[in-house]
Amino acid sequence: MTLSTLLPLSVEWKDNYIKLLNQQKLPQETVFLDLFTIEEVHDAISSLKVRGAPAIGITAAYGLALAARSYETENVSDFLQRLKKDRDYLATSRPTAVNLFWAIDRLLRTATNASTVNEAKTDLIHEAIQIQLEDEATCRQIGEHALSLFQKNDSILTICNAGSIATAKYGTALAPFHLAKEQDFPLKVFASETRPVLQGARLTAWELQKAGVDVTLITDNMAAHTIQTKKIDAIIVGADRITANGDTANKIGTYGLAILAKAFQIPFYVAAPLSTFDLTKETGSEIEIEERNSHEVTHIGDYLIAPADIAVFNPAFDVTPNDLITAIITEQGIITENYKEAIPSLFE
Ligand code: MRU
Repeated sequence: MTLSTLLPLSVEWKDNYIKLLNQQKLPQETVFLDLFTIEEVHDAISSLKVRGAPAIGITAAYGLALAARSYETENVSDFLQRLKKDRDYLATSRPTAVNLFWAIDRLLRTATNASTVNEAKTDLIHEAIQIQLEDEATCRQIGEHALSLFQKNDSILTICNAGSIATAKYGTALAPFHLAKEQDFPLKVFASETRPVLQGARLTAWELQKAGVDVTLITDNMAAHTIQTKKIDAIIVGADRITANGDTANKIGTYGLAILAKAFQIPFYVAAPLSTFDLTKETGSEIEIEERNSHEVTHIGDYLIAPADIAVFNPAFDVTPNDLITAIITEQGIITENYKEAIPSLFE
């Protein structure tokens, strides 16, 4: 069976609406939402019904194209003004993953090149579809490059979900595992549960198990012991934003794993498409880190696990400094050092 038959798509364009896998309901239920309005798209992104940097970008692109269809004007400059307003509205849905901004700005540029409103409306849909198609091809390339770093029977640790459902297909950090499965290349994956929203337990464990990959779930505080006792050969993670010097924002807990990788002298890999790089930022200190609702920390689902009204700090991401990253894997290949020079050259 192929990956497409084993796993649902996270996002699908359906002509006048977006069909979205509701990732909040996984793993108990595989259900889909039909999004008809830009407000529904905004809510789906901010409430993590869709999450994962590339999937957020794809959904936002479709959301903007969807909104543009409803503008009742023939005037190109009025059309562009409304589009810019809707672009700015979608930009408030989540702050850290740069793919969101990358995708909606790409759509804005597309519309600017059209000479009529009708042309712009059609071009926007085509561009959003193109973003999704490109992401699938990109993730496959990332998977091939990443797999070249692993030996048969390696045990690899990952965090959060940087998988097929976080992208168009295959994923970034999880792509090598899906490709290894296709090629009968044995690998063992340890997935950390990823508190507070449990994307590792709910999504990665579900996705890899469904795809037939050998996956073992651990809680986040088991990472050091697991590396020590289970012969972890490498850690691989995705990314939400990589700055010009290679500093990498990813799910909270990633930085701690990078420190552990250094302590245990195992490689720490970041896998991400070029759409996740932000060359307007020199270092990770310039990245906005999303802080989310305290409910995510004080509750598991709707069940209260902390004193009511306790003070909570809930950053959704952290930044791993470039010197802890052994290699960054993109669709163009693997860069291992001198990120300050290697990263800009990826875009030449
Ligand atoms: O809060 P989330 O679930 O959107 O966070 C997702 C991650 O941190 C992923 O690792 C990252 O977006 C890469 S997805 C290919």
